[in-house]
Amino acid sequence: MALNGKIAVVTGAAMGIGKAITEILMQNGAKVALLDVNKTAGDSLKEALDKQYGQEKTMFLCCNVESEEQIKAAFQKTAETFGKIDILCNNAGMLNESTWEKTISINLVGVIRGTYLALEHMSKLSGGQGGVIINTASMAGLGPLPSCPVYTATKHGVVGFTRAMAAASTASGYGIRFNSLCPSFVQTDLFTTTKSNLGQFSNLADMTQLIIDKLGMLNMSEVAESVLELVTDETKNGEALLVMPKRKQYMTFPSII
Ligand SMILES: NC(=O)c1ccc[n+]([C@@H]2O[C@H](COP(=O)([O-])OP(=O)(O)OC[C@H]3O[C@@H](n4cnc5c(N)ncnc54)[C@H](O)[C@@H]3O)[C@@H](O)[C@H]2O)c1
Repeated sequence: MALNGKIAVVTGAAMGIGKAITEILMQNGAKVALLDVNKTAGDSLKEALDKQYGQEKTMFLCCNVESEEQIKAAFQKTAETFGKIDILCNNAGMLNESTWEKTISINLVGVIRGTYLALEHMSKLSGGQGGVIINTASMAGLGPLPSCPVYTATKHGVVGFTRAMAAASTASGYGIRFNSLCPSFVQTDLFTTTKSNLGQFSNLADMTQLIIDKLGMLNMSEVAESVLELVTDETKNGEALLVMPKRKQYMTFPSII
């Protein structure tokens, strides 16, 4: 899939991995609607992107992925302004084992909500042109992080939901590919605040440190390149791509049917 003329929506776009996803999509010719709750960071990223690419290439929309109304309005505005939606990156996420219901609400419910609302614009069954949806999971979507059981649950949920949606899309003819991105640790705000957000599992912080010592930290450009691959390679559907420092792997799963 060539990205020239494609329209992308990225949630959690103002900072961290979402910002890197936005930048690589733009470098490859897409227009991007940046959705985020952080208006200050969103406005300042939009300003920087305007200088580099021109102001017609992006729009920032203040949007909380916990709100059906706000996502609906943001997708509507994107489609009205840019004409369509080809790519959705459900990337907004948090890690807090104390406010665990909120973690589920943003990381898993937000991804499901965003996906269902995007189908109305993207699915060939509802008049759309098809496209691709990339959901940011984590390596915690493939194996347990003992210090973060709820975060682990949300990310396993994202991987399972994405794989099931890919199969549903193929079976029903949505014309949409669905893939999940499963990075190891990346130096972002979410990562630097992890230790103080472990709640009743804070005694296990050292276990997380051991994993970091063993794996090392992932470079942001390795994450962005992996997203680009999942977006552009039209053979990829229903994939969970594990991304680690200097290595990536398409996961295989047991067959149940
Ligand atoms: N940093 C890591 O080590 C790591 C590793 C694997 C996966 N991830 C996942 O990557 C994604 C991005 O995380 P990050 O590390 O870049 O974090 P980050 O904190 O740097 O950025 C997250 C962005 O999402 C936005 N956001 C948070 N809640 C939102 C909401 N309700 N609605 C809209 N926007 C919201 C924030 O304002 C922020 O701009 C998350 O899904 C996270 O779970 C992160």
